[in-house]
Amino acid sequence: MARIVAGVGTSHIPAVGAALDRGEHGNAYWAPIFAGFEGARDWLAGIAPDVAIVVYNDHASAFSLELTPTFTLGLAEVFRPADQGYGRRKVPDVAGHPDLAVHLLERLVADEFDMAQALEMDVDHGLTVPLSVLCGTPPAWPFPVIPLAVNVIKYPQPTARRCFRLGEAIGRAVASYPEDLRVAVIGTGGMSHQLQGERAGLWNPEFDRAFLDDLTADPERLAALDHVTLVRDAGSEGMELIMWLVMRGALGTAPRESYRFYHYPASNTALGLIAFET
Ligand code: DHB
Ligand code: FE
Repeated sequence: MARIVAGVGTSHIPAVGAALDRGEHGNAYWAPIFAGFEGARDWLAGIAPDVAIVVYNDHASAFSLELTPTFTLGLAEVFRPADQGYGRRKVPDVAGHPDLAVHLLERLVADEFDMAQALEMDVDHGLTVPLSVLCGTPPAWPFPVIPLAVNVIKYPQPTARRCFRLGEAIGRAVASYPEDLRVAVIGTGGMSHQLQGERAGLWNPEFDRAFLDDLTADPERLAALDHVTLVRDAGSEGMELIMWLVMRGALGTAPRESYRFYHYPASNTALGLIAFET
């Protein structure tokens, strides 16, 4: 039987990927940030999951603004890094896990979560930067990945509670997969940030720290946050944090917090990382 052994919430800031790709991660600006990733890398290498479900959002890379599914599961054998205007990141292609992905699709739809299906999907910084954060620069990613894309960029986004409940359904679906697999769930995006408008550059450490605390202690409080509160307190793009609730829902009650890192600024956002074991 498959089981979820670990969960991670992490920002997916494109400049973090660019710093690594250009070899600038050791400079004065980035070194403290990459030092903060090291504990999570060592921890995840120790966990060595067989497969990871990465909950991320597409930033109008694979989907156009004319077609915006709310929840999409990637069923392919392989996913290529998307060209976001500067060419594809020179990171490994992302191997999928079609068997488990199809099982998740069947179970989630039976559980009344109507997932869209992607047989081909390029993956943008929302997915590849977290892999870089957690795995560094290996010649191949150390585990296959099932991408789960959530619409957070275009109104109306799913509620925080819907994301949390989707995570709980993922937990049930994984538990009904017959093969022995150790599964990690990675939620990406956040933390507080706003990239445009008068409040561009916003950060809210009080909100972020309370969010990190309650991911462990009181995720139902976070699941009750409405969109207006999220946008007001975390910024328009801080809404991405609802994807961390998919991860947290999948972990069940009382996972153990293994690692935490919080830093500001990275690019123009607050950067957070939290790791759990079940
Ligand atoms: C930026 C983009 C993102 O998608 C994000 O989540 C954080 C920061 C950026 O362009 O700086
Ligand atoms: Fe983003």
